[in-house]
Parts: sequence; C-alpha cells; structure tokens
Amino acid sequence: MNIINTIQDLRNIIKNTKATVGFVPTMGALHDGHISLIKKAKEENDIVVVSIFVNPTQFLAGEDLDSYPVKMEVDKKICELCKVDILFTPNINMMYGNDEVLIKAPILRSYTLEGQRRPEHFDGVLQIVLKLFNIVQPDNAYFGKKDAQQLSLIKQMVDDLFLDINIVECDIIRESDGLAMSSRNIYLTKPQRELSLNISKSLRIASNLVAKNCLDCDEIITAMGKVLQQMDIEYISIVNQKFERIEKIELKNTIILIAVKVDNTRLIDNIWI
Ligand code: PAF
Repeated sequence: MNIINTIQDLRNIIKNTKATVGFVPTMGALHDGHISLIKKAKEENDIVVVSIFVNPTQFLAGEDLDSYPVKMEVDKKICELCKVDILFTPNINMMYGNDEVLIKAPILRSYTLEGQRRPEHFDGVLQIVLKLFNIVQPDNAYFGKKDAQQLSLIKQMVDDLFLDINIVECDIIRESDGLAMSSRNIYLTKPQRELSLNISKSLRIASNLVAKNCLDCDEIITAMGKVLQQMDIEYISIVNQKFERIEKIELKNTIILIAVKVDNTRLIDNIWI
C-alpha cells in the first residue's frame, strides 16, 4: 500500500494511470462499515484510494471535532489488510486556505433534519468532498446509506456541477445487536449502548408495519416514538429520496430516519423502503 500525504504525489500517480479508480473518503477510526465500502470498491475498480481526513469545516462549534477518534496506526493496518492501493492522508494546511471559494449546500435538501440541527454542516461536507474528488479524480466513489442525507446531497452535487463520477450507495452495516456501525459508537457506555438498541428496534417496527401494508407515515412515526420514549429524540422523519417529507410510504422511494441523543452522543440511523 502506498501512503501518500501530498496532493501533488497523489496527482502524479492518478494522472499516469489508465486504471479505474474507486474512492472511499473517510474521517478515519475505520470500522466494518468502512471496510464494506472498501471491499465493494476493490471488487469494482482496478485501484482503490482511501482518504483519511477529519474535516473541521463540517463540525459546528461545540461539536466533537477535538475529541473525534483518531486511530491512524490501526487505520493503516486495516487499509493494508483490505489491500487498499493508496491511502491519502492530507493535512489541514494542504486542504484549506484563507478566504476560499465556498460551496453552499442547496437549501431545500440540506437545511432540514441533520442540516436543521447542524446548520452549515453540509456546506463543509460538500466543500471537502468536492476538493477530494478533484484531487483523486475517481471513476466511482463509495458512500454509506447510514448518512442518507449526506449521500443524497453528494449525488445532487455531482449532478448539479456535472462531475463525471459515479456515486455508489452502500448498505448500512450493523453490529450483531443491530446498532448501526459508527465511529461515534465508542463513546457509549454499556447502559447507553443498551438503550441505543431501541433505535434499530424502532426501525424494525417501522418496516414490519410497512410489510403489513400500513403506509401512513404519522402512524409509523407514532409507533416508533413509543419505542424511543426513554431517549432524547431529535427527529423521527419519513421522506422521499429528495428529502421531501411524505404522508404515505412510497415503495422504493422512502427513507425513515432517526436522530437521537444518548447523553452527549448523537446517533443517527435509517432504513430505506
Ligand atoms: O462520512 C464521512 O466520513 C465524512 O462526512 C466525509 C464524506 C469523509 C467527508 O468528510
């Protein structure tokens, strides 16, 4: 595996290759969710580039930027084991200057749900993803459905800015007890983790209701809310893939999303129907 930490070195390699490039952007603290993206990228491309960069512009003041888990040595080993071809580890001075051209996430799709609680979060995500796309020039880029709104916005950015990149949507990977994998799960104590299992439980209840032909979103949200009673619910929401709220489930075009806080840890999860 080639570990590269300058933009120019990466550009030189990419410029001289005719191989198809698969790209998995990450903020490190890699877990099985990331590994599944890397595996898919390996299956579908000649070369796989993984980036690790904890992007400050997507954290709001008071969020966990300073305590965000950094595990560079373990991450390198994981990438090696997954046969990643290039691990790109830029630093902040390379990635950002002063008084830059800024990307603004579209209002309708971004200032709702996550964006409503975390204004400007998606501006920062799109800013860094576009920069990384421009450096790596991938054919295919891999993103998990767990960050459903992020995925939807990245797809919109690719369409709106005519980027020639295929965005590959990858399924949510869960722990054996159902908790969706997240780098933030390590913040949870044992009792907090047990409480968190209600998140995936409520999503299972929702999908069972849909399977029984209950398509009324209010009814589904009420049933989910009962399971999440003991938690600090930020939202339970049902939207179509453009992130517009819907009243009736539209099969193959619906995402049911949850965000809760377990003490100081914010957890999100969803299912696609
Ligand atoms: O999903 C993430 O880990 C980040 O938001 C991303 C896409 C790597 C951008 O920093």
